Amino acid sequence: MTTKLIIDTDPGIDDAMAIHYAFAHPDIEVLALTTVFGNVWVEQATRNALVLAEQAHYPCLVAEGAARPITMPANDPSHYVHGDEGFGDLPAMMPKGKADPRPAHEVIADLCRQYPQEIVLAPVGPLTNIARLLDYDPEITSYVKKLVIMGGAVFCNGNVTDYAEANIWNDPHAADQVFAADWPIELIGLDITQKIKCNGDDFKMLEDKAPEIGGFLNRISDFYIKFYHTVVGEYVCLMHDPTAIVAITNPDLITYQDVPLNVITAGDEIGQTVPSDDATRRPVRVAVSADGAKICKTFLDICAETDKIKTDRQNAG
Ligand code: BDR
Ligand code: CA
Repeated sequence: MTTKLIIDTDPGIDDAMAIHYAFAHPDIEVLALTTVFGNVWVEQATRNALVLAEQAHYPCLVAEGAARPITMPANDPSHYVHGDEGFGDLPAMMPKGKADPRPAHEVIADLCRQYPQEIVLAPVGPLTNIARLLDYDPEITSYVKKLVIMGGAVFCNGNVTDYAEANIWNDPHAADQVFAADWPIELIGLDITQKIKCNGDDFKMLEDKAPEIGGFLNRISDFYIKFYHTVVGEYVCLMHDPTAIVAITNPDLITYQDVPLNVITAGDEIGQTVPSDDATRRPVRVAVSADGAKICKTFLDICAETDKIKTDRQNAG
């Protein structure tokens, strides 16, 4: 059965990988890319999301969302991880099309109400748009099939601080609001994603099999792999955002533990995702282990088909 998907994203190198995987997957229909600040400023995120959809000739909406967190000032974009424009060393890429005039949270609300209990929301950036969605339409919780969030570090250290993972750290107040709401959440965090690694040869293989889109993913992965070498001492690409989308298509590759969560919103530990004593909080399905080799293979097998699928889409008109 096809899954209707909205990806809320700050593209971003691993965001681009996740999005091209979703565009190429036969069991996923991407209804919209909604954008948020994070890896880049939101205007860059929107431009990059439009570019990705045009690269794949994929007919989905793109809508711009939050430029800053709900309450605190924005952290600087992580250009050192994703490049000045979000796609490694590549200069700004200009899309032909434009974003939908509605803000991201309105587009998400409209689509979820149009397809009740059918849409999976996959936020792979800061959770600001999702918190805005809850403020804008509190009953939307019963219209969303589930959220599969890339973010958090529940039983392990963070990546931007010892405590916090980047997406949660960029808007901890929003994340806490999202975890407090009564809807089904799966959390694909550093507990598993920091152990799921592709390497340069994997991306070169993608370029051989799909010179256009695989070639683009290979070019941008280079910057990311060099960054991760400075952090983990290996030339690898940690597959954060792609793992969240693979979790939707191949849930059997991951095991989960149900844990209600709080987010720390002040002090040194700001952005930490911690088990909550609050009995009113619905447990989050936290990913705790995964078959990393199979997740990488699943990602690579689908992305090897990206050019062919684009051509088929173009030929179908
Ligand atoms: C998350 O932060 C961003 O750098 C990545 O795109 C991913 O969503 C990993 O912590
Ligand atoms: Ca991201």
